[in-house]
Amino acid sequence: MTTFTLNGNQVTVGDHHEHLLDALRVECGITSTKDGCAPSGQCGCCTVLIDGKARVACVTGLDKAEGAEVLTLEGMDPLEVDRYANAFAATGALQCGFCTPGIVVRAKSLIDRKGAGLTREEASRHLGGHLCRCTGYIKILDAVEAIAQDRIEVPVTVGGVGTRGAKYEGRSLAVGRRPFVGDMNAPGLLHGALRLSDHARADVLSIDAAPALAVEGVHAVYTGADVPGELRVGLIHKDWPVFIPEGGRTSYLGDVLAVVVADEPAIARRAAKLIDVAYDVLPPIVDAVRAIDSDDAVWGLDGNVLSRSAYTRGTFDEAFAASAHTVHDTFQTQRVEHAFVEPETTLAVPTDDGGLYVYSGGQGVWDDRNDIAAVLGVDPSLVTVELVSNGGAFGGKEDMSNQAQAALAAWLLARPVMVSLTREQSLLLHAKRHPIRLEYWAGCDDDGRLTALKVRAIGDSGPYASVGMKVLERAAGHACGPYRVPNLDVESVAVRTNNPVCGAFRGFGANQAQFAMEGVVDRLAELVGISGWEMRSRNVVVPGDEWGPGQILDDGAAGARQCLDAVRDAYDEARAAGKPVGVGLGLKNSGLGNGFKEIARAVVRFRSDGKIEVRHCWTEMGQGVHTVAVQVAVEELGVAADDIVVIVDTTRELGAGQTTGSRGTLMGAGSVADACRAANEGGREVDVDYEGSYVVDWTNKMSDPVEHPVIHSTFGYASQLVILDPESGDIERVVAAHDVGRAVNPLLCEGQIEGSVHMGLGYALSEGFPTDEDGRPTNTTLRQLAIIRPKDMPPVDVILIEAPQPNSPYGVKGVGEIGLVPTAGAVAAAMHDRDGEWRNELPLQNDSNRERVSAWT
Ligand code: FES
Ligand code: FES
Repeated sequence: MTTFTLNGNQVTVGDHHEHLLDALRVECGITSTKDGCAPSGQCGCCTVLIDGKARVACVTGLDKAEGAEVLTLEGMDPLEVDRYANAFAATGALQCGFCTPGIVVRAKSLIDRKGAGLTREEASRHLGGHLCRCTGYIKILDAVEAIAQDRIEVPVTVGGVGTRGAKYEGRSLAVGRRPFVGDMNAPGLLHGALRLSDHARADVLSIDAAPALAVEGVHAVYTGADVPGELRVGLIHKDWPVFIPEGGRTSYLGDVLAVVVADEPAIARRAAKLIDVAYDVLPPIVDAVRAIDSDDAVWGLDGNVLSRSAYTRGTFDEAFAASAHTVHDTFQTQRVEHAFVEPETTLAVPTDDGGLYVYSGGQGVWDDRNDIAAVLGVDPSLVTVELVSNGGAFGGKEDMSNQAQAALAAWLLARPVMVSLTREQSLLLHAKRHPIRLEYWAGCDDDGRLTALKVRAIGDSGPYASVGMKVLERAAGHACGPYRVPNLDVESVAVRTNNPVCGAFRGFGANQAQFAMEGVVDRLAELVGISGWEMRSRNVVVPGDEWGPGQILDDGAAGARQCLDAVRDAYDEARAAGKPVGVGLGLKNSGLGNGFKEIARAVVRFRSDGKIEVRHCWTEMGQGVHTVAVQVAVEELGVAADDIVVIVDTTRELGAGQTTGSRGTLMGAGSVADACRAANEGGREVDVDYEGSYVVDWTNKMSDPVEHPVIHSTFGYASQLVILDPESGDIERVVAAHDVGRAVNPLLCEGQIEGSVHMGLGYALSEGFPTDEDGRPTNTTLRQLAIIRPKDMPPVDVILIEAPQPNSPYGVKGVGEIGLVPTAGAVAAAMHDRDGEWRNELPLQNDSNRERVSAWT
């Protein structure tokens, strides 16, 4: 037993805990201290004060805690906690909030020691052990400075659309009071752990659970043989097995073989390792180019080509041949991990009426419900899924991760079961950003006006479809960037391999394509003899232009020019000062488009307790969709934001697919506004559901036989300027001008853009998730991903542009998705401006995170 003082009270815990964090969370009921990566000590979420010093609890053995004073946020002076909550909420220093309690504890230890003398630079160095994937750290440092200098503002409660104010639940999130799924509890709760495959491609001959079942505290082990319904799930194709059963074949290292259910998570994890699996190991198919023509990579499916997306417009060959200047180059982008800070956790609870209630942190609770019901072989009405706002997602929580296994275990045991992935498992299991090889041919006339573009792209999609075909479709659609190109010939292919699954990730194929497009635009500018800014100015789309697959752009396209113009002065000043500079210009659709009929519904209900419920169907993952819902309700109903309660669950049929592609703000605002109008017209009766909807049903598929297909209803635009220090080559400053159509909440929009630039700089410079010849990721920890640290994050000047989108609620375009589309191109251009070298491969500065060359030749 180990005895220590926790928040002023003496506690004694068992010695079986792997580390102090496990003891705090499992035995002591502490939830402000989060588990983002235990036991690796690399995210900072579990930071506590031990004898007054900030320590990460997941690398603190119980021997170190013996006799110590341990302080968590639960034990801090409530007034002091309030000061931190106010400062973080008021400055917009949190988005998903999963990292924030750990950062608050670190900030307290710094401020306790340094007081007002704490510099921003010192704070950024000390935050080096804290991963925040959402904010870009800028507003976190604003908050820390405000507290140190005792100039804390009271968070402004949001008003209607367009007001700047604190995030919904921001104060409680900041100090760990709003629970994530992993912080929840239920009477009789058991914990599950997954056993993943040991090989990317192997026949599973047998699975012997006996050694795991013999472990004290283990209640059950379930495998594919225990699934009463469907074995495979999936967002578009039902091809992703929830278990690989005996007799099946693994297709990547994230495949699940079994779930072990035990009294405590650590017991379940230990037992899962003991399951004895016999394999016949097969050579994996891991080279994307060769996979196109080789044997099947994936068990039970025909062929390795997941999709081909192609279109032509005009006559490329003639136009290219007649061009005054031409370039031909191949660009290679890398696989990237989302690194959301909260690993996937699901809690499934059997209900008294014979159903199942599932708490999920996924991005589409209706898809989760339908797939869980299919796996259990029951009617979907028996399954309710409630969304618990998650700790970041960025597209990586669209597919099911452990929802089906948690649901199965709870269903079969008739007990509540929580399943959490370790960070190592999370890295292996969920879908990544596609590595794409892009070959570009581009031409322009003497004046630099683009004449022709041909693109051939291959993306490694991993074994299961996820939304890989849509990502490569989007890469094809966005291949020409926000430019007028009269002659196009574009094809992209998504290939199945035994590498990690690739799917949705902020930008969704547009980032990869526009890194290449911006590269050829800059090369052509040099041939013409004009600046990168001027080249873009001569080619940028305007309303009425024919774009990409033939879409005639509406008035929303005015934002492209406005973004470019917004950075012009900074561009000219930097050049005049002799600083290397690069500009990137990008566009990204919002919503799904491509002929998909999109319907979102929302419900407004006036409750007898005076509160107003707003029910919608979107996942809050830090981006602020709940805040948008509140602001729209305030705008339309004229009520106070504090009286509004936002709920997402599947008890009402509001389902609208995944929260992806900046759909949440756009369609959420439209449907909530419509529900409010229904409430106003219906007299706002108490306990009545007033339903509203927002529909986008006017887009076309690329293949539709119409002259000018409307591929997407809405586009966001952004230009980013990257300015380097001429001596060191370090990034000195980024200017980011983003057209959001209408800024529903400028504070939150800024945060989204700063966070995107942080993510975009990592994409450009250092991040990656390569695999070896066995399909095994070479990065197994957060640190190896090489995400940019707070001290290396340059200042970002955010410029919000509001070029309203016709046919969109309040003119909204969305902000999250476009965020890092222009970044990598701008960084590559700035580096070229400094040393004259063209760069074709991401990440630009970290060879170890690039793709394996032999996989792409
Ligand atoms: S959970 Fe301890 S540092 Fe990440
Ligand atoms: S707010 Fe920091 S990880 Fe989401």
